Amino acid sequence: MFERSRKGEHALLIQPHAGGPPDEGLLEEFADLARTAGASVAAVLTARIDKPNAAILIGSGKLEEVKAAADASGADLILVNHPLSPSQERNLERALQRRVVDRTGLILDIFAMRAHSHEGKLQVELAQLRHMATRLIRGWTHLERQRGGSIGLRGPGETQLETDRRLLQKRLEQLQVRLDKVQVQRTQQRRARVRSELPRVALVGYTNAGKSTLFNALTGAEAYAADQLFATLDPTVRRIDLPGGGVVLADTVGFVRDLPHELVAAFRSTLSEAREADLLLHVIDAADPLRDERITQVDEVLAEIGAGDIPQVLVFNKIDRLDDNGAGPMQPRTDRPAEGHPRVWLSARDGSGLDLLRGAIGEALEMRHVVGSIDLPASAGRLRARLHELGAVVGEQASEDGWHLQLDLAEVDAQRLYVQAHGEALRPLLDGAALDRSMSGEPDFGVDVV
Ligand code: GTP
Repeated sequence: MFERSRKGEHALLIQPHAGGPPDEGLLEEFADLARTAGASVAAVLTARIDKPNAAILIGSGKLEEVKAAADASGADLILVNHPLSPSQERNLERALQRRVVDRTGLILDIFAMRAHSHEGKLQVELAQLRHMATRLIRGWTHLERQRGGSIGLRGPGETQLETDRRLLQKRLEQLQVRLDKVQVQRTQQRRARVRSELPRVALVGYTNAGKSTLFNALTGAEAYAADQLFATLDPTVRRIDLPGGGVVLADTVGFVRDLPHELVAAFRSTLSEAREADLLLHVIDAADPLRDERITQVDEVLAEIGAGDIPQVLVFNKIDRLDDNGAGPMQPRTDRPAEGHPRVWLSARDGSGLDLLRGAIGEALEMRHVVGSIDLPASAGRLRARLHELGAVVGEQASEDGWHLQLDLAEVDAQRLYVQAHGEALRPLLDGAALDRSMSGEPDFGVDVV
C-alpha cells in the first residue's frame, strides 16, 4: 500500500520568522527533520513574515528569491517550517512549480515511514488523510505527478490523491472503525497490566534524546535505535525487574516542539503509555546546547496530553559526550534536588549509571520493603512456597500447626500476594509498623534498592 521512494530529494528550506532574528535552533531542527525524511538540504532561506501574506505566507519579493535559489540549487521540493493553509500551499506550488510541504506534512511523512505496528500505521494514515482532505478537495491537479520524489506523499499512496471526496470519506470512516477496534484491544491489554499491579514507567523525551538506547540497555531488548528523529513511533513495552520488584517499562514516541495538533490527537492512544504511567523517565540529551529548552518543550507536550502531573525522574543521558570541568569524562551521578525526584546522569550507550537509575526508579516509586514476621497455618503451604520463590523468607521455624516466618519482601509483592486470596496472612505486615510510609527526609527502604 505504501509507496516509499527512497531516492533523494533536494529540498529548499524556508524558515519564516516574525519579530527578531531567525531562531537558529529551529532551523537546525527543521533541517534534521528534512534529512530524517530522506531529503538533502539544497538551500536554506529565512523569510520575515511580520505581516504574513494571506495568499502565499511570504512576501512576493521573497517568493522571487526562493524561485531563483531553487533553480540555482536544483531543489525539487520546498519545505516551509510553518503551517500553511491549503490555498497557500497551492499558490506557492503554482508559483514555484515544485511541491511544497509544510511542517505538519513533513512530520506526518516521517511518521508514515516510522510506523510499524498495525495501530501506528492506521493512526498515521488517518492523520495524513485528514491533513490532505482539504487539499484534495480543493484540487491537486495543478501539480501533476511531480518529477520524482515522495516527501509529503508517502503513506496513503499517490492514487489516493486522485480519489474523490466520497472515497476519501469512506476510507476515513473505515480507518476509524479499525482503529477503534485496535484501541479496544490495547485498552484490554493495558487493563491486564494494571491488574498485574506492576508500577508503570514510561520513557519520554525529545526526539533523539536516547530513549530507545536506554530502553534497550535497561531491558536487554532490541528496540530500534537510530540517529534519526522519531526512530520510535510505536510504544514498546517490557517488564524489568528491580531489586524492589518488577515494573513495566514503555518506550514512547519522541517529542518535538510544536508537535502539530492533528498528531497529538492522532497519537493520543500511543501517548497514553505516557499518560497512564506511574512515573516518567524524562530522557534528556545532556550534551544538547538547547537542553533546557527541550525539557520545557517536552513538559509542554506532556501537559497537552494530560501527563503534566505525573512524577518525573530526569535522566541526563549521553554524559560520555560531556567533560567534567576539565577533570576528564563526566562520571555517572545522582543529584537530589531539594524538591522533586532524583536526577540521574548516565550514558545509555556505555551502560554507565544504569544502577543509579534503577535505584532512582525504586526510590521514586517508593518500592520499599516490608520487614516482619508472620505465622502461617499448615493449610497455607501455597503462600509459603510463593514467599520462598520470591526470596522473601529470611528465617523459618516449624510451629505447632504450621510455620513461623521472618520476611523481607518488596511492598508491591506483599500487596500483590495480599490481594490474591491466599495472602490474607500478610495483612499485619502491610498494616503494621514494619512498613514505614513516611516520606519525610530520606525514604526508608528497609533494604538497599540498588
Ligand atoms: P526517537 O525515536 O527519535 O524518539 O529517538 P530516541 O530518543 O529513542 O533516541 P535513540 O535511542 O534512537 O538514540 C538517538 C541517537 O543517540 C542514536 O544515534 C544513539 O546511538 C545515540 N545515543 C543514545 N544514547 C547515547 C549515549 O549515551 N551517548 C552517546 N554518545 N550517544 C547516544
